[in-house]
Amino acid sequence: MRLRSVKHADIAGKKVLLRVDFNVPVEDGRVLDDWRLRATMPTLQFLAERQARSLLISHLGRPKGKRDEKYSLRPVAHRLAELLGAQVAFANDCIGPTARQAADGLSPGSFLLLENLRFYPGEEANDPEFAKQLAELADVYVNDAFGAAHRAHASVHAITQFHKPYAGLLMEKEVTFLSRLLSDPERPFLAVLGGAKVSDKVRLLHNLLERVDALLIGGAMAFTFLKAQGKPTGKSLVEEDRVADAEKILKNAAENGISVLLPSDVVVSPDDTGSSPIAVVPVDKIPEDQAGWDIGPETARQFAEKIRQAKTIFWNGPMGRFERGPFKEGTKSICLALAECAGTTVVGGGETAAAAFEFGIADQVSHVSTGGGAALEFLEGRILPGIQPLLE
Ligand code: 3PG
Repeated sequence: MRLRSVKHADIAGKKVLLRVDFNVPVEDGRVLDDWRLRATMPTLQFLAERQARSLLISHLGRPKGKRDEKYSLRPVAHRLAELLGAQVAFANDCIGPTARQAADGLSPGSFLLLENLRFYPGEEANDPEFAKQLAELADVYVNDAFGAAHRAHASVHAITQFHKPYAGLLMEKEVTFLSRLLSDPERPFLAVLGGAKVSDKVRLLHNLLERVDALLIGGAMAFTFLKAQGKPTGKSLVEEDRVADAEKILKNAAENGISVLLPSDVVVSPDDTGSSPIAVVPVDKIPEDQAGWDIGPETARQFAEKIRQAKTIFWNGPMGRFERGPFKEGTKSICLALAECAGTTVVGGGETAAAAFEFGIADQVSHVSTGGGAALEFLEGRILPGIQPLLE
């Protein structure tokens, strides 16, 4: 998959409208997690070095098409300025005279962040009129918002009717790493999947099954698979309406010689508070009044061994409730094994990325995707609406 790169755009001295995904947690006017901002730094520096006048546009949260100060991007401009060590101007509108005046006042090599695109209903409606108003602010349009690439919204899709779109450096990096998983991964290729729901991942599982050598399944979604194998699951989260899907996936894997590793032991407790009694039990002995909240130590050891030997790994979804002390060991073991794997290691999904940062391995893997839904939909084999217009 080849994208039209910003490296080939004529941007010197030009007004460049850069769509970024700065949808980050903000509380009391402070950015709590600036990772998506840091991931965009190479593109921002690239633009500044070439004396472009950068107009940054993004969404934040889901303000439902109305102005709502709770979702203002102003705190993001402050944090971005600190990270860049440069001024970042802020305009409290993304279209109209305020935005235009701020854009016209930009000097070469400087930055302006415009207010939340989702304060206008036209953004999510993919409205060409709204897109046109955005497009008119600048000479060149660059999309670096991989995290929003699965949304057919005006600032990533309709806008491409008015400007030939270029991909930013983060967008290129994301697409390079994720496409490598789908075409020609070095073998053995493992997918490690966890998190709560099978329902979110049925398409992903089917698409990966055609490519991986082994599938390692942990997290709450493992209980739906264990149920499909006729094992007792106690009070663990099971998606009854997905048991048939799980059966189909297991059958498909067996027919194609793909090994599926499910937990052999789990950490159980009557609830997920972490303060009730906790025990490690084999999967066929989960008591009726208890639920599983993490993979057990034997499973963690088996998974870690597989991970260390793989040449390509995609990991999405924690192995347990890692936010609670007693249930973090499974996810932590996966992280440490990934850091030791010499192959290509790709981590995708918001919660999974958070775990990679929490256990200090984010800079020891090949790539942490900034996309949650976008990374999963990409790996389902879809051509995302934000990426399609960027294809060469
Ligand atoms: C994300 O955080 O996954 C993206 O920014 C998209 O946000 P959305 O799910 O609100 O469209």
